[in-house]
Amino acid sequence: MPKPVYILNGPNLNLLGLRQPEIYGRETLDDVAEACGALAEDLGLTIRFLQSNHEGQLIDWIHEAREKASGIIINPAAYTHTSVAILDALHTFEGPVLEVHISNVHKREAFRHHSYASLRAEGVIAGFGTEGYQLALRRMRTLTTK
Ligand code: DQA
Repeated sequence: MPKPVYILNGPNLNLLGLRQPEIYGRETLDDVAEACGALAEDLGLTIRFLQSNHEGQLIDWIHEAREKASGIIINPAAYTHTSVAILDALHTFEGPVLEVHISNVHKREAFRHHSYASLRAEGVIAGFGTEGYQLALRRMRTLTTK
């Protein structure tokens, strides 16, 4: 049984659909999880889709992924811009890491232009809305089956 791709989501993403819909859209995180699940099935992948508002929980999932995941897709949300601890955890993971942002962080406030996670990620998708998760999943298939 191939290992799942872990799709990790950081703080406030549980409020997707309600939170600043002009920036993040009206789709909920459950909608995103469902779309990713359906696409994963088409691609012959399995996923574990998770969200937490707590930095330590995200780190624990990254540690778990070391043994249990084929790759990590992560939207660290605000921790993108602050968390050396999440970067350090990602450095302990040996498989591919892709970073996703729903909004185009480069078009927004200067503090969103720097990403600690990008120092580890093989690729970054930003500004493609929630479709970015599906694009990342397609890329993950290439990276994990080559
Ligand atoms: C985000 C962008 C971050 O700057 C922000 O803090 C988020 C979401 C995005 O998906 O566009 O919470 O990661």
